Amino acid sequence: MIEPFRIKMVEPIRMTTREERARLLEAARLNVFALHADDVLLDFLTDSGTGAMSARQWAGVMVGDESYAGARSFYRLEAVVRDLTGYQHVIPTHQGRAAERILFSVATRRGEVVPSNTHFDTTRANLEYGGVEPLDLVIPEGREPRARHPFKGNIDLGRVEALLREQADRVPFGMITLTNNSGGGQPVSLENLRAYRALLGRFGKPLVIDACRFAENAMFVKLREPGQQQRDVKSIAQELFSLGDACTMSGKKDGMVNIGGFIALRDERWVEAARNLLILTEGFPTYGGLAGRDLEAMAAGLEEVLDESYLRYRLRTAEYLGEKLLAGGVQIVEPTGGHAVYIDARAFLPHLPAERYPGWALCAALYLEGGLRGVEIGSVMFGKRLDDGTETLHHVDLVRLAFPRRVYTQSHFDYAAEVICELKARASTVRGVRIARQARYLRHFTAEFDWA
Ligand code: F0G
Repeated sequence: MIEPFRIKMVEPIRMTTREERARLLEAARLNVFALHADDVLLDFLTDSGTGAMSARQWAGVMVGDESYAGARSFYRLEAVVRDLTGYQHVIPTHQGRAAERILFSVATRRGEVVPSNTHFDTTRANLEYGGVEPLDLVIPEGREPRARHPFKGNIDLGRVEALLREQADRVPFGMITLTNNSGGGQPVSLENLRAYRALLGRFGKPLVIDACRFAENAMFVKLREPGQQQRDVKSIAQELFSLGDACTMSGKKDGMVNIGGFIALRDERWVEAARNLLILTEGFPTYGGLAGRDLEAMAAGLEEVLDESYLRYRLRTAEYLGEKLLAGGVQIVEPTGGHAVYIDARAFLPHLPAERYPGWALCAALYLEGGLRGVEIGSVMFGKRLDDGTETLHHVDLVRLAFPRRVYTQSHFDYAAEVICELKARASTVRGVRIARQARYLRHFTAEFDWA
């Protein structure tokens, strides 16, 4: 997994002792969201907006055109997005969820239903906010942490067809998330996407792609799908987009920038209404809530991300850490996806009942032991305390370690594997947690905990 880049600018990482971390964790009330990032050794909280830009992108920052209307940097971004997607209309936004909110506001109505493989949290929340029902129809293997299917992000076409047969008039469009983040960063095959496109087409429905990690998805197609090995990854990415009618994009992932996003649309249908809403809440259509330099950096990032040696290294990173963890007896979601490794916390801490939040306890323990920060995807994030004081629990408790792009080197991943495997060897000493204080919604961000 040799890193296909040289390092030209560095940031120090502050080393901490276990005693310091114990104190900091107590002060954060066992919630890693409340830590100062400076006190984290390796930060695997998210791959979103946390990547390193290239020299070429930083050069773009300097030549960014800050004109209010008609900025050169917009036209550069527009040209790159048109070339990649084949979509004529490009509407910049400050990040992915702004693109979602604007597109859904103009393209859906209360009472409708939108199928996808799995809607990401913000996509789901933006649909629900507009009274639209998000339906997750990933193939059954996509729900099985240990099912080794090459395209666990595929959508279940039988269930989509049943939905369209029964209530086509409620479906404004179909969606697909590339790669399927909530399912472990798992890819969708070209074959599945072609069939989904054809099925939607039979019912006259457009396809909207959540394209956040399109390049990682395209690389998985190249590596895993029969007959695709000889193609260059850009032409695969172009084919993925050619099967859709529109996309929402968070540039903070495969756009390789710290902030940015866009909507792109093939035809006129939603364009005017989307631009009008954009002006109301994001800005004029040629900057959409971003600085000209951000547009310039995103244009460069969208080109760079399709470099095959980068993508090979990127996917290999997750696979490499995954192999080390499996060898150390740590159960993960298999096979590894594009941007993260997901640890099965219930298998890691079998002595803890789900009510003691094993995912949360493991997150806290990984910080304490080695200064690693991951995120719990389990019963704290998705469970709820009901009015009668009882709790609903999630069906799995995972810890996601997501990898910033071009930030950490192989020895950082070796260190992470050592910390996790050493902790596994004395996992029975890890204590569970209980919630001391919590908010009514999205409690994981601010809840306070005690060791149980
Ligand atoms: N869609 C997917 C599949 C995502 O993973 C995200 C963000 C978004 C949309 C929203 O984009 O953050 O730019 O508004 N995922 C981040 C994560 C936050 O950590 O997985 P945004």
